[in-house]
Amino acid sequence: MSVGTALPHESAALHVSGEALFVDDRRALEGELHLAVGGSPVAHGRLRAVDLSAVRAAPGVRAVLTAEDIPGRNDCGPIVEDDPILAAEALRFVGQPVFAVVADSQRLARQAARLAKFDIVELPAILDARSAHERGEFVLPPQVIRRGDTESVLRNAARRYSGRLWVGGQEHFYLEGQITVAAPGEDGQMEVWCSTQHPSEMQRLIAAALGRDAGQIRVETRRMGGGFGGKESQSAQFACLAAIAADALGCPVKCRLDRDDDMRLTGKRHAVEYDYEVGCDSDGRIQALQLRMLFDAGHSADLSGPVATRALCHVDNAYFLPAVDLKAHSCRTHKVSNTAFRGFGGPQGAFAIEYILDDIARDRGVDALDLRKAHFYSDGAQTTPYGQPVEAPLIGRIVEELEQSSDYRARRAAIDAFNRDSPVLRRGLALTPVKFGISFNVVHFNQAGALVQIYLDGSVRVNHGGTEMGQGLHTKIGQLVADELGIGLERLRVTATDTGKIPNTSATAASTGSDLNGMAALRAAHTLRRRLADFVAAREGIDAALLEFADGRVCGGGFDAPFEQVVRQAYGHRVQLWSDGFYATPDLHWDRERLQGHPFYYFAWGAAVSEVAIDTLTGEYRILRADLLHDAGRSLNPAIDIGQIEGGFVQGAGWLTREELHWNERGELLTHAPSTYKIPAVSDTPADFRVRLFDADNHRPTVMRSKAVGEPPLLLGFSVFFALRDAIASVGGGRVSPPLDAPATPEAVLRAVEACRGGTG
Ligand code: MTE
Ligand code: MOS
Repeated sequence: MSVGTALPHESAALHVSGEALFVDDRRALEGELHLAVGGSPVAHGRLRAVDLSAVRAAPGVRAVLTAEDIPGRNDCGPIVEDDPILAAEALRFVGQPVFAVVADSQRLARQAARLAKFDIVELPAILDARSAHERGEFVLPPQVIRRGDTESVLRNAARRYSGRLWVGGQEHFYLEGQITVAAPGEDGQMEVWCSTQHPSEMQRLIAAALGRDAGQIRVETRRMGGGFGGKESQSAQFACLAAIAADALGCPVKCRLDRDDDMRLTGKRHAVEYDYEVGCDSDGRIQALQLRMLFDAGHSADLSGPVATRALCHVDNAYFLPAVDLKAHSCRTHKVSNTAFRGFGGPQGAFAIEYILDDIARDRGVDALDLRKAHFYSDGAQTTPYGQPVEAPLIGRIVEELEQSSDYRARRAAIDAFNRDSPVLRRGLALTPVKFGISFNVVHFNQAGALVQIYLDGSVRVNHGGTEMGQGLHTKIGQLVADELGIGLERLRVTATDTGKIPNTSATAASTGSDLNGMAALRAAHTLRRRLADFVAAREGIDAALLEFADGRVCGGGFDAPFEQVVRQAYGHRVQLWSDGFYATPDLHWDRERLQGHPFYYFAWGAAVSEVAIDTLTGEYRILRADLLHDAGRSLNPAIDIGQIEGGFVQGAGWLTREELHWNERGELLTHAPSTYKIPAVSDTPADFRVRLFDADNHRPTVMRSKAVGEPPLLLGFSVFFALRDAIASVGGGRVSPPLDAPATPEAVLRAVEACRGGTG
C-alpha cells in the first residue's frame, strides 16, 4: 500500500535535477515568437491616442496588437465582464496592458514596448479601500451575514470594544511567473501550454477572445512552479494575449512575464480595512460582533466576490459567536485587480476575530489562550453565522494536545519572567487555532472527473481535472490509483492536465484538489478493477470478491497471476481497459443572496504555538520556536501534508510580518522585485520547528477519510503575529494592546514598541 506512506513528491527528483519541464523549458516550436505588453503610465486616465510607430519600427518587432485586433470578446474576467484584455480607452492602473508587441525575442519585445507615446487625460486615482468606500466606488455590491439582534446585544453588553485595523496584501511570488505558449493548428484550432490552476477557464476565455468554439482550443498544464491562487484567474490575460497573437500571426507565440512585470501587472491578496465593535459579558466572552471589512479589490471584480464571501464565512474562525453583523465591501481602487491567494479571503476573515480576542484578553488581564478556549465550538449542534452546524469540532482536542506537547503554560511563565528582567530583548508567545471550511462556496464547482487507462503491458496512465503546482496532487492521485489496481507507482504516470481529456474542470483551488479529483480517479480505477475481477472470476469460476489486487498480482480463490497477464487476457476477451470516473461532493447547498446554507462538506482544524524574540531598540525579531498540530484527516501522504503545513505556516507568517507591498502616490508599485519585496527566507523559519499531524479520520466519507490540506495551514502563521504583539505588549506592562497593523515588519514593531513605551497604545 502506498496511500498513507510518506513518499516523496512524484517529480522531486526531476525538480532537483532540473529535468522537470515547465512551460519555458519546452523546446521552442518552429518560428516561435515572443510577446511583451505595453501599458498605462498612469493609475487612472482616459486614453486619447497612442502612437505606436516607434514600437513598430523597433528591431525584431513582427507585430503590434491593440484592442482593435482582438477578433472576439475583449475580456478576460472570470465572473464579471469588466476585465479588458487590452484597454481601449479607460486606463485603470499603472501598467494596465494597452498593446502587445510580438518580436523575435523577449528582450526585443520588452525594449520595443517602452517606445510608445501615450496621449492621456489623467484623472484622480483612488489608491486605498477607505477612500474608495467614502466615494462609493465598488466593483460589486456589498455582502452581509447577520445573526441575532446585534445592535441591542451591543447596547446591553457589560463591556464594549471598538477599533480599526488594517492588513496588507500579499504578492504570490510563485517561482515560475505567468507564462503561456500558444500555437495555431489546422482549421482554426489552437494548442496552448499554460501555467495555470484553471485550464478550462483559459480554454473558455481564449475561445471567447478568438470568437471560436471552446472545442477548438486545447489547453495543457503539466505543472506550475507555484500558483498559490495567483494562477486561477490571473493567467487568463496573458494566455489570451498569446493566443490572439498566435492567431493573428499564424505562428507560435510565447508570453512569459518578466518578474517585475509579473509583480506589477498581476493581482495579489486583498488588503483589508476593518472597523469593529464588539460586546462582551463580564468574563470577556463575546456576545455580539459588528464588523465591516473594506477589501481593496483593485480595478475590477476578478474573484473579489467569492473572496469576500469566504472571508465572511471565516470571521468566526474556531469560535461560536452568538450575534453578528458582518459586512464586506469590494472597493474599487486604481490598482491591479486583487485575486485569490491561499485561503481565498478566509485568512482575512479569521484574522479579525483573532485580533479582537487578543485585545479583549489583554484588557481583561487574562491569558489569551483561555479566552480563546472559552469561545471554541464545542458540540456539533452549534452553527456558524451562515447557518452550518459545526460537526465534529476537533479544536478543543487539538488545542488540549498542543498545549501539553508545546509546554505552553510553563513557557508562558518563563517568558513573563524573562521579560521582567530583560531591558532590550523581549519574548512573546501565542497559540492560535484554525478552522477552515472545505468546498467551493459555489456548489456546482464541487465536481471532478478522471480518466484511467491501462496498457497491454500493465502500465497505467492517469489523467484528471486537477493541476499540479507543487502541492503534491499528482503524487496523491498516483498513490490512490496504484493501490486500487495493486500495482507499484513505477508502473503509473499521472499525465499533464488537458482540456482535451477531462472537460469543464473547476480550478484547482479551495484546497479541494485531492478531495474531488482523488475521488474521481479512485472511482475510475475501481471500475477497472471490478471489470478485471469479474473477467477473472467468470473464467476461473470463482467469486470476484475473493480476488485481491496487490504487489502487481491478482490473486485469491486459488487464482494467482501477474497484473499484466490478467490485463492481456482481458484485452483478448475484449474487456474495456480504460474508464472515466466522476465525483460530485454531496450535501452542499448555499443561498447566495442570504449567504446562508451548508457551503462546506467539512472543516479542517489546526493550531499553532509560536514563540518570538524582539529587539526593542531596532524592532528586529526572530521566531524561536513553533509547534504546529494540524488536522489532515487520515493523511494520504504525511510527507506531503507536513510540507504543506510547514509551507502554509511560513507563507502565512510572511504575509503578516515580512511581506510589504508599497505603492507610491502615483499608484506605482515600488516593491516589484525580490530586492524590495521580502518573502520569508530560510533564516526566517523557526529555529525550532515541530510539526505534527493530528491523528483523526475525517468523519465524512472523503477519499480514504483524508482532509484537504492546501490552504488551512496558512492561518497557523497568525501565531507569529500575535506572539510579536505579545512581546511588544510586555514593554507597556502587558495590559496595553500595541497598535500594530499587519504586516508587522521590524519598522512596524519598533513603532509599536515606542507607542507602548509612551503609553499611547
Ligand atoms: N503548495 C505549493 N507547493 N504550491 C502552490 O502553489 N497552492 C496552495 C496550496 N498549496 C500551492 C500549494 C493553494 S492556494 C491551494 S488552493 C492548494 O494548494 C491547491 O491544491 P490542492 O487543492 O490540491 O490542495
Ligand atoms: Mo487557492 S487561493 O484556492 O488557489
